[in-house]
Amino acid sequence: MAIADPVRCGESFFVNGDCVEGARRFLGDGTVDLIVTDPPYGIDGDRLDRHYNRDESHVVDGYVEIAAAEYAAFTRAWVAEAARVLRPGGALFVVSGYTHLYEVLGALRAAPLVEVNHIVWKYPFGVWTMRKFVSSHYHVLYWARPGGARTFNLEARYGLAEQNEDGGSLNYLDREDVWTIGREYKPGRAKNRNELPRPLLEKVIQYASNEGDLVCDLFLGGGSTARAAIGLGRRFAGFEVSDAIFRARVPELAAIVPRERLAALRRPVLAPVPNRGRAWSPSEDAALRETYALLRNDGLGKGEAVARLCAEFGRGRFAIEKRLKRA
Ligand SMILES: C[S@@+](CC[C@H](N)C(=O)[O-])C[C@H]1O[C@@H](n2cnc3c(N)ncnc32)[C@H](O)[C@@H]1O
Repeated sequence: MAIADPVRCGESFFVNGDCVEGARRFLGDGTVDLIVTDPPYGIDGDRLDRHYNRDESHVVDGYVEIAAAEYAAFTRAWVAEAARVLRPGGALFVVSGYTHLYEVLGALRAAPLVEVNHIVWKYPFGVWTMRKFVSSHYHVLYWARPGGARTFNLEARYGLAEQNEDGGSLNYLDREDVWTIGREYKPGRAKNRNELPRPLLEKVIQYASNEGDLVCDLFLGGGSTARAAIGLGRRFAGFEVSDAIFRARVPELAAIVPRERLAALRRPVLAPVPNRGRAWSPSEDAALRETYALLRNDGLGKGEAVARLCAEFGRGRFAIEKRLKRA
């Protein structure tokens, strides 16, 4: 079926149609910096009210679910498309329940992507059960397209030297791979089944993209990713197959004010750089290279190793990277 032209708002656009077909038509190879998406879970998502004891009176109808038998093929198709549109170094965050997790991981492994993190999102008030443990988590699968520089804004939210009252590193705690974030309740307001909370989306977008980047959600639903991305000054492309959901939600999305959330963000306190501008002595240079090699040998990624060197040598990231590149 032909897909209508996108609804365009400033530098963003929304497409009413299947995401694979829509992406083929409207997104070129390697054009997207970050994909954050929450596909249907293949667990009768159109009947999620049976799983959660909650008021469904403002939920917009029309959620398109995927039959369990089709889940693997469906997932492989959209993940392959996601890999095509990502730029080298671009990243994909997929939110998944556990029911079809193995199929989502299978599709990611089959695509030309590499795994970065497997994050567990723990939310309070899980599905109530009496004869087994309460299910209160989702998986957030962080993968990237190799071949380019991956954006990871190490101090996006907390400076490396910031500490909590117990002396713990706020930066470290924010970057652990178990995130406790509550769901948002929106009594009396239109919502999609399963909207993602803004704090989770803003965290992903702050760490993994920069202002002006193109962020994409292949499964738009109520548009929580669009709201977070445009609010943080990113460009956005979204796809939703359901006519009813698209019609009901796109007017709200078109009204999002770009950058409106930036002023509300916490400002990280960046540590002073005591040795900024000082010439490197030969012994300091040798120590830098030796420490870098040791850190990489210990299994640290390049970004993490450079961050440690910044703290140890009292220099900025750029200075360390430039020095390491010198023969
Ligand atoms: C889990 S919901 C996304 C919720 C969204 N993250 C939010 O915050 O509202 C999945 C959405 O994907 C839509 N969908 C299902 N199949 C699709 C397809 N082939 N292409 C695009 N959207 C699809 C569903 O109608 C549903 O709205």
